[in-house]
Amino acid sequence: MADQEYETAVTATSPSLALPVTDGALEARLRTRLAEVEQALAQHVVSEAPFVTEAARHLLQAGGKRFRPLLVLLAAELGDPSGDDIVTAACVVELTHLASLYHDDVMDEADLRRGAASANARWDNLVAILTGDWLFGKSSELTADLGADAVRIQAQTFNRLVEGQILETLGPQPGDDPLEHYLRVVAGKTGSLIATSALYGARFAGAPQEVVEALTAYGEKVGVAFQLSDDILDVTSDSDESGKTPGTDLREGVATLPVLLARRSGAAADDRLKELLGADLSDDARHAETLALLRAHPAIGEARAYVERLAREAQEHLAVLPAGPARQALHDFAEVVATRTA
Ligand code: FPP
Ligand code: MG
Repeated sequence: MADQEYETAVTATSPSLALPVTDGALEARLRTRLAEVEQALAQHVVSEAPFVTEAARHLLQAGGKRFRPLLVLLAAELGDPSGDDIVTAACVVELTHLASLYHDDVMDEADLRRGAASANARWDNLVAILTGDWLFGKSSELTADLGADAVRIQAQTFNRLVEGQILETLGPQPGDDPLEHYLRVVAGKTGSLIATSALYGARFAGAPQEVVEALTAYGEKVGVAFQLSDDILDVTSDSDESGKTPGTDLREGVATLPVLLARRSGAAADDRLKELLGADLSDDARHAETLALLRAHPAIGEARAYVERLAREAQEHLAVLPAGPARQALHDFAEVVATRTA
């Protein structure tokens, strides 16, 4: 799409929210603000080099749920949500996330993202890695507009994100509990940025410190629940729903919650599955058999129950917030994250 056409398309679209909001006024406000975020994002991914713009725009344009910007906007409802810093903060978290997806698809050798070819599949690893770097540079530049504190928070968040990714690559070390290791990975690679989304929203809206802290803790839990539900979807959904290739974690040998729970089974009927889970799953037939066995396994139900418990724990952090539509929407947001199907 030509530059002008893309910007017009973005302006004309009132984005739907990845969350049903029952309060009409709040819903209208969130949609208006999200449209502003969308327009700002479209502008931020423009480079002087046309190829960089094309590569950076590729995944932004492909879609995405914009969960992180939405959480910034929702958390900002606990103070004054109208300032320019709120839109900037929403762009910072989405651009950081977008940057990490370019890198993640290289690490996972993924072909599909948001229903489109991943950048590494469409171009190559080099383009994907450098575009991720460029997007991360853009988000850092924007963070500077939010002040030194925001820069420090962004740097710490980024470190946690990368540490999570490194720990995942290393896998659990001798003596580590595999489930604890996995939860540490997830808190780093996903909990961190979702916690920062809630923190930024509350802080730049001038919410009371007690609320900022509660929302940060809430965001961390919601972030972990979000990643766990993503990992369940990697097993259960097909690519039409998720826009990604199912079974990527299995193929990459990353043991996620359903696998960790299935491995704990002592039932003889699970011997074949456990044998496959210890094997090289780059072979298509073995991969398909494992995916089918895992999809039918009670571990999927147990994993879902675990995520729902986390969502409830997240909701408990909302107790210090004043009752009202924003608190209700944050409550529902945790529910949606835990039970999502795409
Ligand atoms: C998705 O995990 C990946 C992340 C949430 C974070 C990945 C972080 C990095 C690659 C480091 C970031 C580097 C820069 C420069 C920003 P997943 O593979 O489990 O999820 P998926 O199903 O969406 O692929
Ligand atoms: Mg991935």
